Amino acid sequence: MDRIRIRGGAPLNGLIPISGAKNAALPLMIASLLTEETLELGNVPRLADISSLLRIMSNFGVDHSIAGRRPGQSSETGQTIRLAAKSVIDTTAPYELVSTMRASFWVIAPLVARFGHAKVSMPGGCAIGTRPVDLLIMALAKLGAAIEIEAGYVVATAPKGLIGSEIDFPKVTVGGTHVALMAATLARGTTVIRNAAREPEVVDLAECLIKMGAKIQGAGTSEIVVEGVTSLGGTSHDVMPDRIETGTYAMAVAMTGGDIVLDNTRPEYLQAALDVLGQAGADVSPTHGGIRIRRNGNGIQPVDVTTDPFPGFPTDLQAQFMALMTRANGTSRIRETIFENRFMHVQELARLGAQIRLDGDSAYVDGVAGLKGAPVMATDLRASVSLVIAGLVAEGETTINRVYHLDRGFEALEAKLARCGAQIERLRG
Ligand code: EPU
Repeated sequence: MDRIRIRGGAPLNGLIPISGAKNAALPLMIASLLTEETLELGNVPRLADISSLLRIMSNFGVDHSIAGRRPGQSSETGQTIRLAAKSVIDTTAPYELVSTMRASFWVIAPLVARFGHAKVSMPGGCAIGTRPVDLLIMALAKLGAAIEIEAGYVVATAPKGLIGSEIDFPKVTVGGTHVALMAATLARGTTVIRNAAREPEVVDLAECLIKMGAKIQGAGTSEIVVEGVTSLGGTSHDVMPDRIETGTYAMAVAMTGGDIVLDNTRPEYLQAALDVLGQAGADVSPTHGGIRIRRNGNGIQPVDVTTDPFPGFPTDLQAQFMALMTRANGTSRIRETIFENRFMHVQELARLGAQIRLDGDSAYVDGVAGLKGAPVMATDLRASVSLVIAGLVAEGETTINRVYHLDRGFEALEAKLARCGAQIERLRG
């Protein structure tokens, strides 16, 4: 299994191109199941999760092709993927495939909306909490799907098609909103989705669906109205920039010091996190096509943070921010309100010398003067990258095991950081 080795201490200087967003690309690829025409997606990141979803889609009979690299394009330039769900031969997503990636459960929505039948394995447990799918099932039931749970599978049927309805989510759910949105595009009549997730990835999905012929209003607000249509067509759409990758590198430079331009991204996708970084002592400014982050000389100030749905501070940046706070001049409190068990990085950060106390949904981080390199590992993607951030300033060598977690969500991580001066390399095998 590959490992990543880091020698801490080097500041980061230069330019990092930001990739397309994994969490936008996944629902966009799934949306191709809504039409028999071809959906062409540009700026798709090269990630293990994308390959896993392509395998699942192939199993349904979806044809796909990946456009070759054009001259001048680097291995980090996003790829263009064409998906054609013209001859779907199977509407079952088996456990072996769904269990590799939770988001693949979302295929249930386009399958039942277009074919009237879907049988999808329950995604099962997950390292960051129980993460149920009850609200996704509730949304489909509201749209008239008959739901049965059979031996670990959710079977959704709607032989006469789905019917527009009112869906009130009792809590904000990104996946629930994606599912409701996709299913409602082909339902008869009007659907109103209340307490919808306002995440930029929901807006990206809605914009693509609108290009495919869907009638959607209000995406990006907490009330989305969808007027069902009888069929959708193909289109071409570029995946939005990855706001979590952007925030991760912003936190890395706030940690190491230096001066970095994050290119091909947009500050408004992560304003809450950038505001917090400003309070912590980083200098954040917009550039023509991205964001410039600097921290020169001044120390890191402690800042209290609570994770919240968008536009709040994202849970997907909580671990990275905690790594930064381990070096702050004082104590910070980090409250996790989205997932109940998203503190696995605490034990590993402690191995590097961090001082963190857990109390219920909060972590109290006492900043220390220095971290010391050690072998570490993590059990999810964002936790793994928080160890990279800590390793970048830890004295000596930090080795991060289970790199496959990083490969699920960070494209060319070590190459992007090494080009900016980090001493980081991948050890194969
Ligand atoms: N929830 C329920 N019932 C449901 C669905 C969700 O109780 O049926 C709860 C969850 O347990 C959680 C909260 O609602 O407490 C929010 O979960 P949400 O549905 O919003 O999460 P998700 O759609 O499963 C996506 C991202 C996550 C990100 C969350 C929150 C993708 C592929 N995943 O997950 O990303 O943390 O939204 O923003 O878009 C990651 O990329 O590392 C990652 C975990």
